[in-house]
Amino acid sequence: MHLLLLHGPNLNMLGRREPAIYGSTTLDEINAALQEQAGAAGATLTVVQSNHEGVLVDTLQAHWGRIDGIIINPGALTHYGLSLRDALAAMDVPIVEVHLSNVYAREAFRHTSVVAPIATGQIAGLGWRGYGLALQWLVERLG
Ligand code: DQA
Repeated sequence: MHLLLLHGPNLNMLGRREPAIYGSTTLDEINAALQEQAGAAGATLTVVQSNHEGVLVDTLQAHWGRIDGIIINPGALTHYGLSLRDALAAMDVPIVEVHLSNVYAREAFRHTSVVAPIATGQIAGLGWRGYGLALQWLVERLG
């Protein structure tokens, strides 16, 4: 089982970026925990972070037909990233959208996700643990 974990804009700043909202865990720490969890589950995990929507689209296209599931935190692209949404929709695999914060309890512009309608499910507000829950669910679904 090969899974893809994608992180969108500004998530490379985790740990330093608004820690009261996003927590103090860094992206490297999250990725290391997820790699360990994936390995224990017998899955391989490819991780990519980019601040550029086109790079995320290129990454998805490069993995077309070669992955079984996707975990993605699109960052602010969640709210307007239509080319990312279309690239995700073309993948034809289960997709879990993850947000560290509870976007529905924040500014109005964060209440709309253009990704949610083509995602299999969404986890929001559980901090970095949400990624692990998404991975656990994908392993169960695909296993
Ligand atoms: C986020 C929520 C988005 O609104 C924001 O732009 C982010 C992070 C989250 O994980 O809570 O960059 O996706």
